[in-house]
Amino acid sequence: MNKYTGKFFHVVTYGCQMNVHESEKIRGILASLGMLETDEINDATVVVFNTCCIREGAEDKAYSNIAALKKWKAEDDSRVIVMCGCMPQQKEGKYDLKKKLPIVDIIIGTHNINLLGQYLTRLAEKKEKIYEILESPTESMDIGNCIRDDKINAYVNIIYGCNKFCTYCIVPYVRGREKSRPIDEIYKEVKDLVQNQGYKYITLLGQNVNSYGKDLTDKTTFSELLTHLCRIEGDFKIKFMTSHPMDFSDDLIKVMKNEPKVAKTLHLPVQSGSTAILKKMNRHYDIKQYMSIIKKVKRAIPNISLSTDIIVGFPGETDADYLKTLKLMKKVKYDQLFAFMYSKRKGTPAATFDNQVEDYIKTKRVNNLLRLQKIIQKDQLKKCFKKTYNCLIKHINGVAVGITDGGKEIYIPNYQFANQNYFANVKVEDIRNHKLSGVIDE
Ligand code: 5AD
Ligand code: SF4
Repeated sequence: MNKYTGKFFHVVTYGCQMNVHESEKIRGILASLGMLETDEINDATVVVFNTCCIREGAEDKAYSNIAALKKWKAEDDSRVIVMCGCMPQQKEGKYDLKKKLPIVDIIIGTHNINLLGQYLTRLAEKKEKIYEILESPTESMDIGNCIRDDKINAYVNIIYGCNKFCTYCIVPYVRGREKSRPIDEIYKEVKDLVQNQGYKYITLLGQNVNSYGKDLTDKTTFSELLTHLCRIEGDFKIKFMTSHPMDFSDDLIKVMKNEPKVAKTLHLPVQSGSTAILKKMNRHYDIKQYMSIIKKVKRAIPNISLSTDIIVGFPGETDADYLKTLKLMKKVKYDQLFAFMYSKRKGTPAATFDNQVEDYIKTKRVNNLLRLQKIIQKDQLKKCFKKTYNCLIKHINGVAVGITDGGKEIYIPNYQFANQNYFANVKVEDIRNHKLSGVIDE
């Protein structure tokens, strides 16, 4: 028993899959204190904000949502607000959090989330606010017993941090240097998720998964890790994100092609279609090299589903640079696009670059990009006709639906099903109103 046993907690998450997974770990820590989860902030004693600082919008949202709890906090002095993750970890953040958010009781960064239980106990005993930002991880960040959001897809960290220092990006400053998890630890976790907990998809997480193993003494590569994980017995598939084009190897393409357990989907951020801009971004590849990877991947895996990240309005981006990005999109034909307006991050090199692009131009460019992507996506659907995809079979409103590795839904009318959540081949037989339907293809 402790002060928190039997009380409720609520976790609010901003940002990427890494943060989503970290929040699953936070929920595990809070449950181990005997706490219960609630969707209702009003019922909660502890509210945790796991924050993101990749763009200004994410920061502003977290800041205003925390500030809005002033009245909630004043109503009951046993209530606790925790702020953790990337926002507090920034050295040169926009907000002086301690001063600007006096209602927060515990402010910690990205390197000590695993110690949250200890901080809460200290708060209960000493009744003193806690502000602790560490320079590097204390010990293993891997906490057992995380409480996962999803019952089908499980996130598994394979590498923390980033050494790439793209000039626009704050991540290397808040997440530290690359640190790979030992292969045996990952293997054990995946095996348990698949064989004891019934997970169908394992998504391996890292800022740059292709750097996996470079810091390990045995120098295991990412392709070797993937191959090793595919030897685990069971009906499951592996996805991974995010890949950096610079480290993307031919070996990896081979593994993706040859291993049925590797999902046929790839997120390969390009960021810009202009080689000049890529150089200023410090991305270490040009468009020719990027296109060469895309061509090789498409040749090896014709049904692959591709997605990317693009930033518009990077300092110095001209109309001509921007048109090159549109041209690239038309060439690659991504199934999914994540488009962002460049957001100045204090402390990163690009924040001091000349020729910052005006907001109205960024807005125009991003809207245009999304419009083009819609057209491409419709076109991509047509290409599915008569093709066969290995899908996860699910029931949606009583109808069987095959979900492709890339997330497309293929309705399977008149299919008699007894169970769900297994893999089967589905052939697309019809496309109507942007909806795919098909049959099981044995
Ligand atoms: N402004 C806009 N987008 C950014 N990203 C990273 N930093 C910034 C920034 N300062 C985007 C990149 C990255 C994705 C996760 O977020 O496209 O791939
Ligand atoms: Fe940021 Fe570049 Fe590292 Fe990705 S690879 S996290 S964009 S610095």
